[in-house]
Amino acid sequence: MKTSLNDIHFIEIPKISDPDGRGNLSVIEKNILPYKVERIYYLYDVPSDSTRGGHAHIKLQQSLIALSGSFDVVLDDGKKRKIVTLNKPNKALYIAPGIWREIENFSSGAVCLAIVSEVYKEEDYIRDYQEFLNFKSDRQH
Ligand code: TYD
Repeated sequence: MKTSLNDIHFIEIPKISDPDGRGNLSVIEKNILPYKVERIYYLYDVPSDSTRGGHAHIKLQQSLIALSGSFDVVLDDGKKRKIVTLNKPNKALYIAPGIWREIENFSSGAVCLAIVSEVYKEEDYIRDYQEFLNFKSDRQH
């Protein structure tokens, strides 16, 4: 499927605020994500001047959540680029396959949770930007 920045959207995660002021609880049940979850990983202790990501996926779909702190996600479909700031534990950013992403500007203590649709397979990654552009110039992607 040909994907673009239009295939990226926020997913609101239900938040249960405690009536007695004991804080919030958010829950991700399987039906709120548009794919079957196969893997969860998280980035933490990322220095503020470091960039993570720097790749696209061929098949994998994922949702990113700032469980703590904030960071910016640079999204690129080969034609357009946009930057989204994540800073709410009850908002997930859904990223379709075929989108180049970089994650940067991590605040101190930021934790980036990734909930993804595939087990880890290096063959699913495109880690070279020019290769990504070639991939996107194919009508299918
Ligand atoms: P990498 O994909 O470069 O991280 P990011 O793109 O988020 O900055 O992954 C860093 C290393 O971790 C790389 O050697 C692959 C390995 N890795 C796994 O073994 N399993 C995983 O699920 C992930 C996400 C990475």
